[in-house]
Order: sequence, then structure tokens, then C-alpha cells
Amino acid sequence: MWTTAVFSTYVLASAAQGTYNPYPWSNSWQPYPWESSKTGNPITSSTGSMVGSSLSTSYIGSTTSPTGTASVSTASTGSATTGPSSRGTGRATTSPSSTSTGTSGGGNSTAASPYSVKTPPLTTDWTYEVGTDPWPEYPRPQLQRTQWQSLNGIWTYQNASSLDAVNSPPVGKNLANEVLVPSCLESGLSGIQTTYNIYSWFATSFTVPSNWTGSSVLLNFGAIDYEATVFVNGLNATFHRGGYFAFTVDVTSYLDSGANELLVFVHDPTDEDPYVIPIGKQTLHPSHIFYTPCSGIWQSVWIESAPSDYITELDISAGMDGTVNATITSSSSNSSAASISIIDRSSKSTVATHSGTAGSPFTFQVSSPKLWSPSSPSLYDITITVGSDTVYSYTGFRTISKGVVNGIERPLLNGEFLFLFGTLDQGFWPDGIYVPPNREAMVYDLQTLKNLGFNMLRKHIKVENALYYQACDEMGLMVIQDMPALRPLQTETLSNCTVETILPDATQQAEFQRQLELLVTQQRVFPSIITWIIYNEGWGQLTNYYPEFRLTDIVRQLDPTRLVDATTGWYDHGAGDFSDNHHYANPQCGSPFYSIQSSPYDPTRIGIQGEFGGIGKNVSIEHLWNVQEAINTINQTYEIDLTIEAWNYRGHRLLGEILDQVKLYACSGGVWTQTTDVEGEVNGLLTYDRRILRPYVGQWQADLQALYDAGVARSNALAPALKFS
Ligand SMILES: *[C@@H]1O[C@H](CO)[C@@H](O)[C@H](O)[C@H]1NC(C)=O
Ligand SMILES: *[C@@H]1O[C@H](CO)[C@@H](O)[C@H](O)[C@H]1NC(C)=O
Ligand SMILES: *[C@@H]1O[C@H](CO)[C@@H](O)[C@H](O)[C@H]1NC(C)=O
Ligand SMILES: *[C@@H]1O[C@H](CO)[C@@H](O)[C@H](O)[C@H]1NC(C)=O
Ligand SMILES: *[C@@H]1O[C@H](CO)[C@@H](O)[C@H](O)[C@H]1NC(C)=O
Ligand SMILES: *[C@@H]1O[C@H](CO)[C@@H](O)[C@H](O)[C@H]1NC(C)=O
Ligand SMILES: *[C@@H]1O[C@H](CO)[C@@H](O)[C@H](O)[C@H]1NC(C)=O
Ligand SMILES: *[C@@H]1O[C@H](CO)[C@@H](O)[C@H](O)[C@H]1NC(C)=O
Ligand SMILES: *[C@@H]1O[C@H](CO)[C@@H](O)[C@H](O)[C@H]1NC(C)=O
Repeated sequence: MWTTAVFSTYVLASAAQGTYNPYPWSNSWQPYPWESSKTGNPITSSTGSMVGSSLSTSYIGSTTSPTGTASVSTASTGSATTGPSSRGTGRATTSPSSTSTGTSGGGNSTAASPYSVKTPPLTTDWTYEVGTDPWPEYPRPQLQRTQWQSLNGIWTYQNASSLDAVNSPPVGKNLANEVLVPSCLESGLSGIQTTYNIYSWFATSFTVPSNWTGSSVLLNFGAIDYEATVFVNGLNATFHRGGYFAFTVDVTSYLDSGANELLVFVHDPTDEDPYVIPIGKQTLHPSHIFYTPCSGIWQSVWIESAPSDYITELDISAGMDGTVNATITSSSSNSSAASISIIDRSSKSTVATHSGTAGSPFTFQVSSPKLWSPSSPSLYDITITVGSDTVYSYTGFRTISKGVVNGIERPLLNGEFLFLFGTLDQGFWPDGIYVPPNREAMVYDLQTLKNLGFNMLRKHIKVENALYYQACDEMGLMVIQDMPALRPLQTETLSNCTVETILPDATQQAEFQRQLELLVTQQRVFPSIITWIIYNEGWGQLTNYYPEFRLTDIVRQLDPTRLVDATTGWYDHGAGDFSDNHHYANPQCGSPFYSIQSSPYDPTRIGIQGEFGGIGKNVSIEHLWNVQEAINTINQTYEIDLTIEAWNYRGHRLLGEILDQVKLYACSGGVWTQTTDVEGEVNGLLTYDRRILRPYVGQWQADLQALYDAGVARSNALAPALKFS
């Protein structure tokens, strides 16, 4: 009864209808001029209504069920045999995904085994819609260039036996298997779906379009887990370490005029000894709250044309008073003139222009900008020119700060306390592991949260692709961004039989810090991000000294425009802006009660419940991650409710408890565990396949609105805390 009744109000424009709108929540979204070949921007009819947001109605009322099971092929071959289609953007001039025999030279004529989706332990409605042209969208909305070509598609792949393999790249040889890029080798969508993928080779070839006007060709990778050595035509072009971060290499000097061979060697030890590296929830030995890892090229790959002096980085922040602070970094000079224009998205009029110098920070004003907030996520487009390089970006005017409101330390958005309420959002998929099957699927999760009335999400120890943050910016979902945790909660037995928690040594800690800095500098451009989290529940957190103090200072220095939650859960020694409790299932938020391993609420900082809830309801086998070891653990971690009525009753009581803590005590925000089921966890709002939504939508919307209303009431100096008697 709950599957159909709940879904009838819960709908999504259908890709099958050819009218999929990537931004259905926004009636102001317009494609960039060169994206005009996209299929329009239809706004679905507005028949629904939702508490807490005027935006959500635009995607309620379509006639298509989100489950869409009727239209989805479950055959294992699916659409996987479709040849590379034209790029969605229409910009590519050649097919970047060479065929399996596309590598030049060499004496090996053995064709790679052809790509097809490997049946995953659980599918989604999008599994067999991915085809061989994945993620065709321009991958970097925060720094866009017009002349680009996707290299996503079918590449070839072969397992390697050790780190030494990097010294003998298989130049001109065919690799054994076709593979989908981007993907995780462990996922069905990769076409490989193997475990223990420690050393790997990936290959493709590409031809630079002859009409590109720039003198440089840049090769971009959205993310490779964990280390990558990139060879272009057999030459080592670059090495990159860190599984969650983008990198760019200028490959101009390595290129031939015809086909260019691209080989990537990937090393991904995950939690193999002796590595202690940022991995989040990935493990080579999945169990309970730790899941299948992701290895390989898991975000988009593309080439683009740029002049010899090109823009490498933008650091732009825009405040509620109209101040824009910008630093534009370019590749070869710190003295080039830089100009910047801010454009109103709806009227297309330029509201400010400014000239500065690349490499030096500058500041200017926009008068009376429309502010960004969850209920009104106004954004402005930006055009930036340095010399002959022009790139496009966007920003939102908003200010994140903290302050005492009616006697309580609060997080402030545009100077006002807004109760923050989100989910623990892990970003795992049964068919793609770390890679959502496509943008529609990724946005579906976000739409679900927005429709239920969440104004925030906690991106949990993972970093998503840039289009995800763009969607949060456009939809008005605030993001609390975690640093991916170092190898968590594992122990080792020393030679004297002492059992010790595995923690980073000094070199590993320095690398953690370097990647934390990368996280902040790469992601600080997105206005939806409001807070950085450094440590989760003590995972990888040294306690012989308290590194979170120094790391908090470093994060604040790199990004003075946001708050820092130094330790979400467990080992809190007073660092950062939050006093953050984790407790299951009941919240203990800004309250005069707590239990291990939390600390008592510290009134000098913001009281927040970084995790609570987590209540589960088992589902039938066709919605479960069909791996027996995972099924066996379903009742070993979180509360299980036997009926969906009981689950919704418990949800209502737990939301009522945190509501009390907003009314009586000093609770400023909460994070409900979690957006979706993951592997052996059945505690999502959505099942792992996204086909069942557990909440009674009306009840949850009302319960969440009560939290926001209580936050507003407590901000009123005339309204003292309610007394319990
Ligand atoms: C290059 O040629 C392709 C067609 O092959 C076209 O789509 C594209 O717009 C051209 N680009 C430029 C910059 O002229
Ligand atoms: C890849 O190679 C490693 C090391 O040789 C081996 O342990 C592993 O089983 C191989 N994986 C696959 C999928 O062949
Ligand atoms: C050709 O490629 C196949 C598949 O990777 C491999 O098994 C074989 O050893 C290769 N032969 C040569 C001569 O490189
Ligand atoms: C490739 O070049 C990088 C420097 O960009 C270097 O650190 C790495 O050791 C080189 N790798 C090989 C296999 O030569
Ligand atoms: C801009 O920079 C100034 C000086 O560092 C700072 O006080 C202000 O908060 C910044 N504003 C924004 C929007 O980043
Ligand atoms: C630009 O300035 C920065 C910081 O002052 C410096 O680190 C960098 O090397 C300079 N870049 C160039 C290309 O001169
Ligand atoms: C065991 O060895 C470790 C590392 O050398 C040391 O820190 C610890 O105190 C030793 N434990 C005992 C019981 O001797
Ligand atoms: C959950 O449901 C699956 C079948 O859908 C079943 O195999 C498993 O035993 C159930 N686990 C619990 C704890 O109910
Ligand atoms: C957990 O569920 C399994 C079925 O998957 C059942 O055999 C076992 O008794 C349950 N354990 C508890 C503590 O309820």
C-alpha cells in the first residue's frame, strides 16, 4: 500500500518522453548559447504543493511514475550494445571513444572483449538507459570552455599485477576488455564488475578537432581513484594522487596531428596494508556500514581548446551585501589583465563588470543582488576573460556566518538563523557504486529530498561530480561537505600482541591535509556548500595530539566564507564552529543530555545533530542488494521496524524529539540517516534501487516544516524557550 499511494504524488519528468528537463525545479534555467541543441527546458505542470518551498511544485504533477518499472528493460543486455552516439552537446567533432582496436601501432590484433553491462546485484530504472555515451554533459559548470570534446565512452582496460607495471606501458597494444568510462571497475555499469582492482591500465584514442582555435589542448579528468599516471602517445604526461579531485594537464606538446593514444595507469589500494588514505566508506572487505569500493576513472574525461595563457582556477565568492571577491589564476602570467562580468540569469543583463589582474585578489560590488537561499536559489552567470581566454561560471550572493540569536549560538544564512535539516547523503548506487547512472538519476535523489522539505544535505565522506553541486546550487539545497575519511575503524595486531587502531603516520597525515586543502580549493566555488567537515566519528583522527585545531585554521584560511565542523561525532576537543552529536536512533541536539561517545553540548558553539534516525524497514528481495553477506547484516546495525506504518510512526516520534530540542534547548540543525539504502543497510528514505520511498510524504513535510517554524520562533527575542513541566 505504501509503494503506490506514496508514489502517486512523487513524480519525475520522463526521459523516455524526450522532455527530460535537467532543472525542473527552476523556471529560470537557460542553457548556455552553445548548449542550444539540448531538448529544451520544459517545465512540468504545477499541480502539487509542498510545505516549505515554492519551487518544488514545478516537478510535481507529471503523469509518469518515478518507478518507471514498466518501461525499463531488465534484460542483462539492455541497450549496452548501442554504438557510441553523438555527443549530447553536439560539440564533439570526432568520436572520442575509439573502438577496441583503435590504439595505433603494435602487433596485437586480438580484439578486446566487447562491452556490455554486467548484471549488478540490484538495478535501478536507469541501469539499462546508460548506453555507451555516459555523462555527455559539459562536466565543469564552474569553469566552462566552449571548445571541448568528451572522451567518455568505451575504452579498453586490463588488470595489471603490480606498481612496477607503470614502467612498461602497453603502448600500441590492445587491452583485454572494453570498459565504460566513467565508471567504477567494481560496478555492473563498467562492464567489468570485478573485485580487488588494485592496478589497472585504461586506454583510448582521440583526435583533436581540426577547427579548434586555441594553441593549447588541455586534457581534463574529473576524478580517478586513487593514483593515476597519464601517458599520451607513450609519454608520461602527468601523475595525480587523490581519488576525489579533478586535474588538468596541458598535453599540447605530446600530440600528433592524427589519432593520439591515451593510456592511464591506475593504482587504487583502498584499505590494503600499509595504506592509510582518504577512502570514505570504501573497503576491500565490505561489511555492515562499509561498502564496495570504486576503482578507476570514475568521473568524466574531456579535452578542450585554450590559448597558451589560459585560466587555470577561479576563486569567487559573493556576499549578501553585493561584494564579489575574486582571484583568477592563469597558467603563464601573474600580470595579465583579467575582466569579469556578472550577468542576471533571468534578464540576461550585465549587472557589473570589473577589471583586475590575474593572480591577485580583487573586490567589487553588485548593487542589491537577489540573494541565494533554499527558498529562492537565485544565481548569476559570470564571464571571465584573461588575454584571449574566455570562460563561463556562475555564483550566488549569500553570506554564511554565525552569531548569538536570542541567547543561542546559531548558524546564519544571510544574517538570519535558518534551522538546517538534511539527510546523510552517501552517493552510492547499486549499478554504478560511486557513479550515478546518469544526471537524471543523480538529480532524482536531490529532487526527492527537496520535495520532502529538506533544505540541506550532508555529503558524507565522498565528493561528487561538479554537476551534483551545480544541481544543489540551482535547486536550493545547502550542502555540508565532509572530507573523505582516512581508512576507518580498522585495527592491527602488533608483534607484542597489542591491538591498535590503524591511524595515519606523519606522511599519511600530511597527505590527508594536502587532500583536505584540495577539497576546499576545488569545491569552494559552489554557493550551496555552507560548511566543511574534517573528521567523522574519529575515523583516522589522531588523538595523541589534536590535529583538528590546526586543520580547522587551515580550512578557515583557505575559505573564510564558510563554517567548519571540525569533528562530527565522537572525539570533540573544542575545535571548529559546531558542537556536533551523533546518536541513534534518538537525537541529543544542543541538549542537557548526552551519552558516549559524544561530549556534552558546548554552548559556545553551534549545537547540531550530525547524525540520528537510521531506522530501517526491510524490503522484498527484488529491492535488496542481492549479496547474501549483506542481507545477513540487515538487522545487525540499525533499528529495524517490521511494518512501514511502524517505520513512519518511529520517524514521526524521532522528528518530534528533535523538534522538542529546537523548542526547549539549543538545537540548530540535524542530519537524518539517510537518503537511500546502501548494500546491507535498509534505512534509507529511498530503497537502494530508488524504487520505493518509505516516508508518508505529507507527514514528513509537516514534521520538517514544524522544525523550521520552531527555529524561527526561537529567533524571536520575545519568545523564550518553552519549559517542560
Ligand atoms: C568545428 O567543427 C564542428 C563540426 O565538425 C562544429 O560543430 C563546430 O562548431 C566547429 N567549431 C568551431 C569553433 O568552428
Ligand atoms: C588483478 O591482479 C591482481 C594481482 O595480480 C590479482 O590479485 C587480482 O585477482 C586480479 N584481478 C582480476 C579481476 O583479475
Ligand atoms: C595480445 O592481447 C591479449 C589480450 O590482452 C594478450 O593476452 C596477449 O598476450 C597479447 N599478445 C601480445 C603479442 O602482446
Ligand atoms: C611520471 O611523471 C611524474 C611527474 O609528472 C613522476 O612523478 C612519475 O614518477 C612519472 N612516472 C613514470 C612511470 O615515469
Ligand atoms: C571579501 O573579502 C573581504 C576581505 O578579506 C572579507 O572581509 C569579506 O568577507 C569577503 N566577502 C566575500 C563575499 O567573500
Ligand atoms: C603567480 O603568483 C603565485 C603566488 O604569488 C606564485 O605561486 C606563482 O608561481 C605565480 N605564477 C606565475 C606563472 O608566475
Ligand atoms: C607494544 O608495542 C607498541 C609499539 O612499539 C608500544 O607502543 C606498546 O606500548 C607495546 N605494548 C606493550 C603491552 O608492550
Ligand atoms: C530481509 O528480507 C530478505 C528478503 O527480502 C530476507 O532474506 C532477510 O532475511 C530479511 N532480513 C531481516 C532481518 O528481516
Ligand atoms: C536477524 O535476521 C536473521 C534473518 O536474516 C535472523 O535469522 C536472526 O535471528 C535475526 N537476529 C536478530 C537478533 O533478530
